Amino acid sequence: MSVTTKAGPAAVYNDSVVRWFAIASVIYGVVGMLVGVIIAAQLTWPELNMGIEWLSYGRLRPLHTNAVIFAFGGCVLFATSYYVVQRTCHTRLFGDKLAWFTFWGYNLVLVLAVITLPLGITSGKEYAELEWPIDLLLTVVWVAYAIVFFGTIGIRKVRHIYVANWFFGAYIIAVALLHIVNSAAIPVSLTKSYSAYAGVQDAMVQWWYGHNAVGFFLTAAFLGMMYYFIPKQAERPVYSYRLSIVHFWALIFTYMWAGPHHLHYTALPDWTQSVGMVFSLILLAPSWGGMINGIMTLSGAWHKLRDDPILRFLIVSLSFYGMSTFEGPMMSIKTVNALSHYTDWTVGHVHSGALGWVGLVSMGSLYYLIPRLFGQKKMYSVPAIELHFWIATIGIVLYIAAMWIAGVMQGLMWRSINPDGSLTYTFVESVKATFPFYVIRLVGGVLYLSGMVIMLWNVVMTARQGRIVDVPVLNVNPAHA
Ligand code: HEM
Ligand code: HEM
Repeated sequence: MSVTTKAGPAAVYNDSVVRWFAIASVIYGVVGMLVGVIIAAQLTWPELNMGIEWLSYGRLRPLHTNAVIFAFGGCVLFATSYYVVQRTCHTRLFGDKLAWFTFWGYNLVLVLAVITLPLGITSGKEYAELEWPIDLLLTVVWVAYAIVFFGTIGIRKVRHIYVANWFFGAYIIAVALLHIVNSAAIPVSLTKSYSAYAGVQDAMVQWWYGHNAVGFFLTAAFLGMMYYFIPKQAERPVYSYRLSIVHFWALIFTYMWAGPHHLHYTALPDWTQSVGMVFSLILLAPSWGGMINGIMTLSGAWHKLRDDPILRFLIVSLSFYGMSTFEGPMMSIKTVNALSHYTDWTVGHVHSGALGWVGLVSMGSLYYLIPRLFGQKKMYSVPAIELHFWIATIGIVLYIAAMWIAGVMQGLMWRSINPDGSLTYTFVESVKATFPFYVIRLVGGVLYLSGMVIMLWNVVMTARQGRIVDVPVLNVNPAHA
């Protein structure tokens, strides 16, 4: 990167890598959500599979989940963690070349995912579908990420490590651990491997991974964003710093044990399922503690919600976080799960967390970041942010309400029994009854995707009128360090 200040490279932040990750995330967001809309349409009208194997639902579904979680979500997390760690440590990012390696390496992983998944090359483990050579590449990239992030903490100019960095740090360590353990496999060719675990152990390891991917990738890291961008945008300190520390330790301790709620009524020992259920119920407390801490940061500044659409993205994301972390513990109760499992209720729960929490908090943070990365005070069009907020919110409500109704209906139809013990409904009757709700979900998805396209336009226009400036590292008075 070009450095124009007299003070030398170490005296300006490394924002170029942040800028690239931020732009990449918006593009991946559009692509991932477009694939989401396509598979939602395929579930509604299966003819849209068009008899082409690469475009079939089974191939595109993992492409959707990988694109939205790891490409969109992952790039937002790289961008924000690199930005936040520099600003809160008052120092330039550690290792310029290594930081660029994480950008190109991570994007190579994503491109390989886009190629291999439609070809049907998959390990078959949900959210860990990529085959072993890509897994190895990801491991190397992730170790580089850890060196850059913790290296920056190591050279910080302030003694205190701000709480957002604790959340980002926990996510980086936990994801490394989860990825290495769950991806252990025996390769039989370049494109095929078999899990190192078998039977119920394999299932247990997979859902320990799967649940903590939710807990650390989709939750802890985004809470790191919440702890930086909400106070910044609201121009208020975090409501309770003490609560944020309790929140951190309680959350990371509890998440690790809740995985078995994905395996209720399976061959997993019953006591293990109960442990998963109990820890899931406990998880409500730290989750809501964090949500309340974020929302209460606005105390005394509620009026800002009226005319600041970025703040609205951030605060409404927390409402969805609260909703999905209430719903999750309820669904982990075994008797409730007996109804919800296998139904679209789960899909509704997933997307209230994914669209409502992960999506909105990412968009709000990107709207804060992008103008600053292009030397601007605000985005090119503020009314476009406003429009994005409303169509995204309406889209989410349509999506999740349709899935809740469809899910409960499916669960009730499947368990309904005639006096003679036979089933009241055939399976296909439940599929037919679901049709209108799939159409409503599709409409919600199209709205949400449209919001993302508006965002892409707004980002391009902001970048075009902006200019790249080097931001000097904040000097710290040693007395306050
Ligand atoms: C336009 C927006 C979106 C649409 C239309 C959409 C649609 C879909 C559809 C149709 C499925 C398959 C459901 C099934 O198997 O029955 C799905 C699964 C999934 N989507 Fe999305 N999606 C969108 C955005 C997102 C985002 C932003 C995320 C994450 C940040 C996400 C995460 C997931 C996950 C984790 C699953 C797997 C759920 C499970 O296994 O229960 N989606 N999505
Ligand atoms: C206290 C917090 C939470 C708890 C206790 C919880 C619990 C649950 C339960 C019981 C299921 C259904 C398992 C099944 O029947 O198969 C589930 C599924 C899921 N949840 Fe949550 N949840 C929580 C928060 C969240 C959040 C915030 C997100 C997203 C950001 C999320 C994403 C998912 C995903 C992706 C699945 C589907 C996994 C799959 O089958 O592919 N959860 N969760």
